[in-house]
Amino acid sequence: MTDFYVVPAWQEAEWPAPTRTSRARRYAMTPPAFFAVEYAINPWMDTTTPVDVGVAMAQWEALRQTYLRLGHSVQVVEPVPGLPDMVYAANGGFIANDIAVVARFRFAQRSAETKAYSRWMSSVGYRPVTTRHVNEGQGDLLLIGETVLAGYGFRTDPRAHGEIAALLGLPVVSLELVDPRFYHLDTALAVLDDRTIAYYPPAFSEAAQATLSQLFPDAIAVSSVDAYAFGLNAVSDGLNVVLPAAATGFAAQLRAAGFEPVGVDLSELLKGGGSVKCCTLEVHQ
Ligand code: ARG
Repeated sequence: MTDFYVVPAWQEAEWPAPTRTSRARRYAMTPPAFFAVEYAINPWMDTTTPVDVGVAMAQWEALRQTYLRLGHSVQVVEPVPGLPDMVYAANGGFIANDIAVVARFRFAQRSAETKAYSRWMSSVGYRPVTTRHVNEGQGDLLLIGETVLAGYGFRTDPRAHGEIAALLGLPVVSLELVDPRFYHLDTALAVLDDRTIAYYPPAFSEAAQATLSQLFPDAIAVSSVDAYAFGLNAVSDGLNVVLPAAATGFAAQLRAAGFEPVGVDLSELLKGGGSVKCCTLEVHQ
């Protein structure tokens, strides 16, 4: 496993970047009112590290304001005491084509979030359904155009991929994750627009890397430094890419490719192993 992946030289070359366009998005976010690191279910979580809920709330609010300033809508999900990871709203489910699939979590510590997110989905007019096998929502299921990219290896069960395809009537491309630090697809791959992705190749199996380079010859490959700064845990509207501010190399690559990087600081939420994308559930419409 490489710990020093660097961007291939040809990717740094100047080229006339295509014109990018934004589209107004609908997001759901859950405030970190009960955020804590009480258990460790991914390599980023350390239960001995103190967490400051006030700082987490302020950083989360700055992210929400960023989306509003960019012209997007944000629906706020009611946080539930005793569910410290609920702030990672991306994991709550996957909504597209008017179908809301609520998550089924891998770990018992998060299983009660299913009820909370399903209650929220009902409150905004959906009739949530779920899968028989584990699916951690947009942590592992990312829509690009009319295709779902689906991660497996740590959380979402590959058998749920077929269930998702059937429930949503969309093709699903399965991608195997191999590095526990990149345990959800959204930590290793970002969808930038309907046909462009950025990703961290060493997080994927060789077969998945081959699939990605075949499907996305224009993909942006990011360096280890940016991947470890959670740079790929980003949210794009087609033009503006909201990402952790520390991922400065990736921000420069985005700019060179015609996107507008918008850096935010979510350092407190990184203690739970998540950043921008983890805190954001996009409601695809
Ligand atoms: N502590 C949470 C977990 O391990 C973090 C989830 C991050 N979310 C994400 N979409 N990657 O489940």
